[in-house]
Amino acid sequence: MIMRIQKKMAEAGIASRRKCEEIIKQGRVMVNGKVAKVGDIAYEKDRIIVDGKPIEKKKKTYTMMNKPIGFVTTVSEGHGMRTVMQLIKLKERLFPVGRLDKNTEGLLLITNDGELANKLTHPSHKIWKKYEAWLSRPFKDAEKLKKGIIVGGIKANIKLKTVQGRTVILEIHEGRKHIVRKIFGKLGYNVTKLRRTQIGPLKLGKLAKGTWRYLKEYELRGLFHKI
Ligand code: URA
Repeated sequence: MIMRIQKKMAEAGIASRRKCEEIIKQGRVMVNGKVAKVGDIAYEKDRIIVDGKPIEKKKKTYTMMNKPIGFVTTVSEGHGMRTVMQLIKLKERLFPVGRLDKNTEGLLLITNDGELANKLTHPSHKIWKKYEAWLSRPFKDAEKLKKGIIVGGIKANIKLKTVQGRTVILEIHEGRKHIVRKIFGKLGYNVTKLRRTQIGPLKLGKLAKGTWRYLKEYELRGLFHKI
């Protein structure tokens, strides 16, 4: 991947991006044997040396999980609750992208790529997520839902996909806490089961509950294309 040198240095854990710019200005960075300037571009094959030491590329890991209910989506949990990270035993330090409630199941992206995580969760990127919701009674308010529902003074935009009795499939692009449950709550329905099945182009598919796998090349390309 092509990237500015300061960003590459920051990703390798040298310092913050701004601090890396200072280090470059101080003439402490060499790229392929030449002193680098702030804003220079580095290619994958380039050899970047800071204070005489080559920077190490941190391997990026991208996984997806079918989160089961009963697990929280934090990295560490001090209240005896089980976390999704206990289901994924890898030596890299990974973290879940965005959140799912303890009693929500389905697709969760888990990675160590902070940049991708930021972009996927930032509202400006409008990444649509698909949910299947099972309700306490048959759903009869499709028209109201399509118009958007005000939650906490802000309108939640919704794409209604299908309604089949008590089961509703919808898409939203925001990540406010309990947002799907609140949307249905506003219309007088209880959500008895909630499952996320898609994040942007990434689909849950047939991944068994409680298991995880690495993302495939085409899935990663799809995600990066979206942001
Ligand atoms: N909306 C919810 O209400 N819960 C989730 O876990 C995700 C979206």
